[in-house]
Amino acid sequence: MDKSNGLRVILFPLPLQGCISPMLQLANILHSRGFSITVVHTRFNAPKASSHPLFTFLEIPDGLSETQIKDDPTSNVLSLVEQININAESPFRDCLQKLLVQESERVSCLIDDCGWLFTQSVAESLNLPRLVLSTFKATFLNAYPIFPRILTKGYFSLSDWEAEDSVLEFPPLLKRDHSWLFREDGEKLNQFFDTVVKNTMRSSGLLFMSCEELEKDSLTLAKETFMVPVFAIGPFHSYFSASSSSLFRQDDTCIHWLDNQDDKSVIYVSLGSVVNITKTEFLEIAWGLSNSKQCFLWVLRPGLVLGAEWNELFSEGLLRSLEEKGKIVKWSPQEEVLAHRAVGGFLTHNGWNSTLESICEGVPMICLPGGSDQMLNARFVSDVWRVGIHLEGKIERKEIEKAVRMLMVESEGKKIRERMNVMKDEVGRSVKNGGSSLRSIETLVNHILSL
Ligand code: UDX
Repeated sequence: MDKSNGLRVILFPLPLQGCISPMLQLANILHSRGFSITVVHTRFNAPKASSHPLFTFLEIPDGLSETQIKDDPTSNVLSLVEQININAESPFRDCLQKLLVQESERVSCLIDDCGWLFTQSVAESLNLPRLVLSTFKATFLNAYPIFPRILTKGYFSLSDWEAEDSVLEFPPLLKRDHSWLFREDGEKLNQFFDTVVKNTMRSSGLLFMSCEELEKDSLTLAKETFMVPVFAIGPFHSYFSASSSSLFRQDDTCIHWLDNQDDKSVIYVSLGSVVNITKTEFLEIAWGLSNSKQCFLWVLRPGLVLGAEWNELFSEGLLRSLEEKGKIVKWSPQEEVLAHRAVGGFLTHNGWNSTLESICEGVPMICLPGGSDQMLNARFVSDVWRVGIHLEGKIERKEIEKAVRMLMVESEGKKIRERMNVMKDEVGRSVKNGGSSLRSIETLVNHILSL
């Protein structure tokens, strides 16, 4: 660590894997620049303090009952975020108030997730500057002021879900990429977007795990939209691995299994930490992988399949056929997997962390987004950067088999891989000396010092 600068930063992640990892990586980045770190977190999905001995952890109650936690609250992320936002406000305020009084070092700022709706007001009431971390691509946060327009204008109806037309307000998205926006509680969603936008505009700065090489225009637009300093400090895992922030136990046996496979012969399959699929979709993926005759490593997260515990849906025949070519684990050390020489493709839900990790390792993708920002990331991967194949929501064995074979063995796959290698190098440069992301970290550090 650089010499301590005598200042402390308070971090407050949303309790989801895809949000906790970036926040703890950010904690490491700031700690390496001399800041002391306090992480305030909810009881639900509490990060493992013992894996981060250099930081102070403070737990606050989140009001979720044991039954709510046991019933896999991540199966409806939006209502989970809504619920915790209501429950955590008062404990967070108390915690922050005490911290500011008791802390011997000066607290320079609070940095928390854009999904927290009350933290801006709490920070203002305590005279503490707040910076916002977006765990999304900047293009997605830029769309928050646009989503309500899309929703309220009756721009397109439910029957248009399948439509291939692009959405004028939000290229390169297609109409069907917005199906997740249509919910019975659409008004609540509108309020959510509106509050995030207003809070971010009142904040002291906005951080993205992204870089100019990936989205220069979107970053410029973010500055104009939110009118606060914007810092794109790179794919965070390029500086510090996310694996110490894993909420699930990683099964390392898959690395040994990969050691015994040929170079670029394995398709890695993972749908992240919150996506759910139906039993039918699950079986279609299984048959598609089996029929592709390619080697695969599949993360079958317990709770992934609605109404199933784990792999009990496999018939003996299917399981035997899968085991001939594949390995199934409950959770993998994903960064290590993607960096492994044997991995040649990634069938992914396109969470922003997974998408960045894949780009940084030069692994081309097959896109199977589940909703929200994943739709946008997938569209960029397939249509803009052209480093992946989009399944266009067709979770059917034939489509999966076709996409896997196209990516892993056919000439089209070779071209996609070449483009991905170029992209990997460009993004890699941003975190090297003189690169845009490293420069942005310096600016961020100076900004925090000036607060
Ligand atoms: C969701 C959103 O989709 C994402 O865009 C947003 O930024 C955060 O919330 P999630 O579904 O968890 O995230 O996906 P993703 O962003 O890809 O994060 C998953 C993380 O878990 C990645 O860092 C990945 O490396 C890790 N992971 C996943 C493992 O370590 N092992 C696994 O087996 C699967």
